[in-house]
Amino acid sequence: MVLKEVSAVMDPGKCNLIIGASGSGKTVLMKCIVGLMPPSEGEVIYNDRNYITMSLEERKAIRKEIGMLFQGSALFDSQTVEQNVIFPLDMFTTDKYSVKRDRVKEVLDRVKLSEDAYKKFPSEISGGMQKRVALARAIVLNPKYLFCDEPNSGLDPKTSIVIDKLIKEITEEYKTTTIMNTHDMNSVMEIGDHIVYMHNGEKEWEGTNKEIIYSDNEKLNEFIFASNFLQDAKNMRMIQETGEIPNDVHSDVRDALEDKFNTDMDGDGTIGTK
Ligand SMILES: Nc1ncnc2c1ncn2[C@@H]1O[C@H](COP(=O)(O)OP(=O)(O)OP(=O)(O)O)[C@@H](O)[C@H]1O
Ligand SMILES: [Mg+2]
Repeated sequence: MVLKEVSAVMDPGKCNLIIGASGSGKTVLMKCIVGLMPPSEGEVIYNDRNYITMSLEERKAIRKEIGMLFQGSALFDSQTVEQNVIFPLDMFTTDKYSVKRDRVKEVLDRVKLSEDAYKKFPSEISGGMQKRVALARAIVLNPKYLFCDEPNSGLDPKTSIVIDKLIKEITEEYKTTTIMNTHDMNSVMEIGDHIVYMHNGEKEWEGTNKEIIYSDNEKLNEFIFASNFLQDAKNMRMIQETGEIPNDVHSDVRDALEDKFNTDMDGDGTIGTK
């Protein structure tokens, strides 16, 4: 069994992030929620209704309300940008071509892709553009639930933040319940309204991006603040906001701070190196 007793409530109109190391179970959890992988036990509840045991008709109705951006974009290589985005409309609506084309333009505008990209194939556009196309395809049916599996993988930090902000804006604009898998620290701090941290198939921690700074969960801290640089950044933020020196700050840094402010900041009766 990959997942062990994971239980979480995802908030509507919010960016709910599932974070964790590679292999911690993020994709499996997302696939269980979407219905691509049946869990061996447990429940998946959409609006008080059990997705696992409901009738096929009811499941189909919920599926229509789900948009998904797959890990690695998963665009159809042999189809143009426009054809990729029109695909869900062909599958789920009986709209005339002109109506579908207008809708495609609307969402491609929304993700800021210009018309000269419409006839291009995925291999002819950049990674960031591919993510935009995948996002446009995920929102083309105006979903109530938006799932994004690693929407930033393979992108540079700046482009990642642009995609993150786009997902956040769309979430707030359309009030979607957005569930996003990521192991990107920038995403966590930038858009993580609600964060579920997975470790070895279990939910290890849950909270907001603000709470991550103050959390003393060791596994979470090891994962998020893996480098010394990020550990220092976390400590500086805590010092700034609380005026106290965190326990795990390096003793040299602690002494230097106490010397600088000539104050016994950790309350141990001594000031810095004196
Ligand atoms: N269909 C499957 N059957 C059995 N085990 C699986 C299956 N898919 C994934 N696993 C295992 O489940 C664990 C979690 O995999 P998962 O793909 O959910 O990780 P992840 O957190 O999404 O990782 P990544 O960040 O690399 O995408 C892994 O140990 C993997 O080998
Ligand atoms: Mg994954």
